[in-house]
Amino acid sequence: MPGGEDFRTIWLKPDDPSVVQIIDQRLLPHEYRIHDLTTWQDGVEAISDMYVRGAPLIGATAAWSLYLAALHASSPADGVREAAVTLLASRPTAVNLRWGVERILRIVDAAQDDPRLIELIRADAQAICDEDIEISRGIGEHGVTLLEAISKKKNGGTVNVLTHCNAGALATINWGTATAPIYFAQQRGIDVHVWVDETRPRNQGSQLTAWELAESGVPHTLIVDNAGGHLMQHGQVDIVITGTDRTTRCGDVANKIGTYLKALAAHDNGIPFYVGLPSTTIDWTSRDGVAEIPIEERDAAEVTDVPGVHDGARLTVRTTGSDTPVSNPAFDVTPARLVTGLITERGICEASEDGLLGLFPEKASM
Ligand code: MRU
Repeated sequence: MPGGEDFRTIWLKPDDPSVVQIIDQRLLPHEYRIHDLTTWQDGVEAISDMYVRGAPLIGATAAWSLYLAALHASSPADGVREAAVTLLASRPTAVNLRWGVERILRIVDAAQDDPRLIELIRADAQAICDEDIEISRGIGEHGVTLLEAISKKKNGGTVNVLTHCNAGALATINWGTATAPIYFAQQRGIDVHVWVDETRPRNQGSQLTAWELAESGVPHTLIVDNAGGHLMQHGQVDIVITGTDRTTRCGDVANKIGTYLKALAAHDNGIPFYVGLPSTTIDWTSRDGVAEIPIEERDAAEVTDVPGVHDGARLTVRTTGSDTPVSNPAFDVTPARLVTGLITERGICEASEDGLLGLFPEKASM
């Protein structure tokens, strides 16, 4: 169960350490299928075709893909370096991809001719996953205090959280970033309800967030992306919590397309807008998110063609004219001024350089 102690989104096959296993998230919520990665190219495909997605899980998948590259190459170090180039290009916005790849490359550089290189990479890919779980747990522990405060103010009434995309257990190794405070609230008996944005065009909200909240027994309601502003105007949203794919050192937040519009609506209605931010997602080298963060442009077919299930069979239908021109930017940037706070594993801070450096002082010199 997502948000349960045993749940994981990526793992080494127990009886065969040459296979990395993932959940094929393209098939949810209709089918839960485990997919095997046996080569690093399988890992690239899983990331670019979104079998796996979500910034932390993309970083972990990249690390495990480099383990597979080392495993099958005549020179493990050369194999890793070659695979790293292709992996780095597989999805441009989530900074965890670069972070995960660079972390493994540092091991390769330090190991020189160490015959244990493959073992060292395997251990670090595992460590990346274990650390991610602890990071999400930290975000949950800090973020739940916000939900507790709202619950208290409402005398135990329902706390209505709005979220966009899937920044849940499925986007991380477990717990999620935006959802960790929600799972913790549920455990503490807080009456919590989640408005789930559908999140066109890939529908991570309707297909993934709704699935994992249902699996975990968290009350939720699916809404179309355009409904959030209306709900906010009518007092039906207490707090917005989203994830992020890259946050600059000044607190500008890149996240799934449409997040910026939710932040604008929250600002206009005086509703707190928080972002669950693992420190692995902070790009300490960038300041101005709108100018500096590359925004992935994805295939037009994600907009024109809608996949679904009919009478138990998978099918995809085209909803537009055959030659309608399409633009499909996958992410947008919410400026720090619209973000009430960042929920990190070390605590909650203002979305600003001072706020982030207050929690991560060791990054001041970067
Ligand atoms: O395109 P995706 O599905 O990888 O986008 C994911 C998101 O935008 C998530 O909200 C974000 O990665 C945060 S994941 C904890």
